Amino acid sequence: MEERQTAVRIVGGARLEGSVRITGAKNSVLKLMAAALLAQGRTVLREVPDILDVAIMAELLRRLGCTVDYDPAAATVAIDVPERPEHRADYDLVRRMRASICVLGPLVSRCGEADVALPGGDNIGSRGLDMHVSGLQRMGATVSSEHGYLIAAAPEGLRGANIWLDFPSVGATETLLMAAVRARGTTVIDNAAREPEIVDICRMLTNMGARIDGIGSSTLEVHGVETLSPAEHTTVSDRIVAGTWAVAAALTQGDVTVTNAEPEHLEIALDKLTTVGAELSTVPGGFRVRMDRRPTAVDIVTLPYPGFPTDLQPQFIALNAIAEGSALVTENLFEARFRFVHELARLGADVQTEGHHALVRGRERLSGAPVEATDIRAGAGLVLAGLVAEGTTTVHEFHHVDRGYAGFVADLQRLGADVTRIPVDG
Ligand code: UD1
Repeated sequence: MEERQTAVRIVGGARLEGSVRITGAKNSVLKLMAAALLAQGRTVLREVPDILDVAIMAELLRRLGCTVDYDPAAATVAIDVPERPEHRADYDLVRRMRASICVLGPLVSRCGEADVALPGGDNIGSRGLDMHVSGLQRMGATVSSEHGYLIAAAPEGLRGANIWLDFPSVGATETLLMAAVRARGTTVIDNAAREPEIVDICRMLTNMGARIDGIGSSTLEVHGVETLSPAEHTTVSDRIVAGTWAVAAALTQGDVTVTNAEPEHLEIALDKLTTVGAELSTVPGGFRVRMDRRPTAVDIVTLPYPGFPTDLQPQFIALNAIAEGSALVTENLFEARFRFVHELARLGADVQTEGHHALVRGRERLSGAPVEATDIRAGAGLVLAGLVAEGTTTVHEFHHVDRGYAGFVADLQRLGADVTRIPVDG
């Protein structure tokens, strides 16, 4: 999809009702596309969401010498990888999408070298790459940073190593996994991330011929193989999009059935919704959320999976903003993720932050106002707040939301919300 300079206008008050289907996870599919680089030939991915980041990753892979056939209507992407891909990921693409860094591991593995521009991306605080770098060094790569590029080289190939991550970083686990599958010998990644998206990439790599033990646990043991073959793979469903709809249902005192979703990937978040007073039930291939009263405030502490996901924190702050009572929200992953509460305050929310804690005192009503999305999830939180604010809320910089939520506005409309995309002045 194209990047469109639009805002979204929401007239609050509608109750969301109906059914919504979830597609593949943004946070998985981008890495799966990068993983395709590990094997020469044609890899096909399914349940690919129609979002800008997929188009950016497709372009990045083309620059690396791949032929990429992205069909948003069919939700598929086919990637033909040459015998020897290029090894340089340029700044003009990487700066548009931080996740571009996920080509680092596959490129060092396939080409013996990688020059990847240092990423920008979401404006949610500093996000280091130190664990990606030290892990690759342990595997025998030299890594330096020059002129804004991270330059990694392992001309003799990577070798297996024991790696202990200081923190179960999603990105570092993925980089090191993709580097390890073709390394000589065994790599043990300890304190690895366990997110469903990590399990998804492990499954795809296994399909390609990789040998990985401990999938889904915090110790991944990767036995290097010489070559991998291309694969066909269906992307895991987007738990954050599913969770956003679940919160939207509870917040608007609605009744929403979420299909093609995996409630077991959202256990804590759905349990929190039960605490706020929603009725949760599983349905074939998904779940249903019903709510018939004002929510009760609920405390949240974000943690690596299986803890409460940071990517659902803004949505729960929006929920707490109109809940009965007060809630303490603790953010442990990204330091600047509370920035958006200044925008929420424009709708009348009472949120006080102190370091990585936010105290949210529920108000009986919020009132519509113009606000600005600062990142994908903050934008989603603002949309949810707008759904229950009295009058009109306009969410500017809506392109952030489009990056994570395919067809969000259309789905909101189908569920009964009064939501319109409007062109931005100037
Ligand atoms: C991914 C997701 C993001 C989600 C996050 C946590 C993608 C594209 N993004 O981000 O939506 O919020 O997981 O679930 O998949 N860190 C370091 N050094 C490192 C690596 C990370 O200090 O080498 C820190 C980061 O600064 C951050 C924390 O670890 O504070 C979490 O980062 P990480 O788990 O790597 O998240 P991402 O992969 O960036």
